Amino acid sequence: MAFVAGLRSNLGAAGVLTGPDTAPYLTDQRGSFTGEALAVVRPASADETVTVVRACAAAGIAIVPQGGNTGMSGGSVPTVAGRSTDALPHTGRDGDDRDPSTPSIVLSMGRMNRIVSVDPDRWTITVEAGATIESVQQAASATNRLFGPDWGARGIATVGGAISTDAGGNNVVRYGNMRDNVLGLEAVLADGQVWDGLRALRKDSSGYDLKHLFIGAEGTLGVVTQAVLRLHPTTPHIQSALASISGLDRLMALLELAMDRCGGDVTALELMPVVGLERVCEKFDLARPLVTCEEFCVLVRLASAEPVAERLGAFLAEASERGWVRDAAVAVTEEQETRLWTIRDELSPMFLWEQHKHGVKLDTAVPIDLFGAYHDEVRRIAADLAPGALSYGFGHVGDGNLHMYVLPTRDDQVAPFLAVRDELRERIDEATFAFGGTLSAEHGIGQLLRDRIRPQKPAVEWELMQAVKNALDPQGIMNPHKTLPP
Ligand code: MLT
Ligand code: ZN
Repeated sequence: MAFVAGLRSNLGAAGVLTGPDTAPYLTDQRGSFTGEALAVVRPASADETVTVVRACAAAGIAIVPQGGNTGMSGGSVPTVAGRSTDALPHTGRDGDDRDPSTPSIVLSMGRMNRIVSVDPDRWTITVEAGATIESVQQAASATNRLFGPDWGARGIATVGGAISTDAGGNNVVRYGNMRDNVLGLEAVLADGQVWDGLRALRKDSSGYDLKHLFIGAEGTLGVVTQAVLRLHPTTPHIQSALASISGLDRLMALLELAMDRCGGDVTALELMPVVGLERVCEKFDLARPLVTCEEFCVLVRLASAEPVAERLGAFLAEASERGWVRDAAVAVTEEQETRLWTIRDELSPMFLWEQHKHGVKLDTAVPIDLFGAYHDEVRRIAADLAPGALSYGFGHVGDGNLHMYVLPTRDDQVAPFLAVRDELRERIDEATFAFGGTLSAEHGIGQLLRDRIRPQKPAVEWELMQAVKNALDPQGIMNPHKTLPP
């Protein structure tokens, strides 16, 4: 095809993949969404990105920006009508959108992975969009600084993808999500212009803060090519503990106690269901950190410039005296620390049950004091409609972000589950809105939620978002069929 040949003559063979080589870029990591693309285009610089965007704009070809493709909502793969196993069936209602058969390319940012500069005196690091979260953490650490955001996919997830979904992870309670860690951005706009907003200012009240439009936009407004990220002081003393808890009703009290007794040293407080913990230990042949656990554990991590063992011990002792913690294992060696966080990193049902892709996956945040009550409400709805399914809630207690999954765990449960899945989703979504929550806390809307997200916000808010989209991408070529409701 002449269009692809033109790109190849500009970017070289390594810059344009076609045929079977494109397969890993066309399906998301959960295996829920598979799309089609003319080519996977891999620019090596912002200039090459401009060339590609201009060519697509001229030819009316859609652009699907992609980082590490670890997204959980199908935002980083192209759409093909009716091809996903997880999205609601495509209804062809997209009067506001491009035709789903519009050809697209995947714009993979993986070759733009340079650490451009680390500036410890400014407490910043400047990186290209394709740099992995782990490479940013390592480069910061080499200059005695710390990059705060962290989650299991750190070795593959990229800065551009994380910005585009406003990713969060385990450390949000202390360092915030990506939005809180981005100081400046460079983006290639839908018409090929480059916006250089690479500022390293902590304060800047000079009008609309446009970088925030691109954070969480899932590539629907332009392509993020570089970012200035904020760094923090290092915390050489890190220690975690796994505690078996008496139930979810005391979760907030436990968080408050941790905050009171350990101050700003709490970097993570994660809910872990014991059924998942056991399964991960079995899968990786790991010794179980606690022999006796009830239904849930929490994993708490303190990190500081000073030793934290005493404070961690005192917090656990007090929580245990109050009857909120039944038993606890404190990591005293590096191996134990790593083991606890390996268990956490592997806790997603997508790693544990093959049937996960038929399930209902949630990335909800509710006002933090309602975390336990929301969990119980979803479980009640699930028990009512899908009594054979597993209700599996885990995640980020410290910021109110619950990953609740309702899923079949055996093949013979799949058909009865699918028969009620739509109703289950609807009832859970209604409950989420009634709790004042969001369906997307850190995974984005992508393809997964765009048919479900509309009731969450007032009509005027969607109209404003659509106006922004129309202003920045009047041709509608940037990641169509994502983020905005049809
Ligand atoms: C996590 O916190 O482990 C992820 O967001 C993964 C998931 O929700 O499955
Ligand atoms: Zn998460």
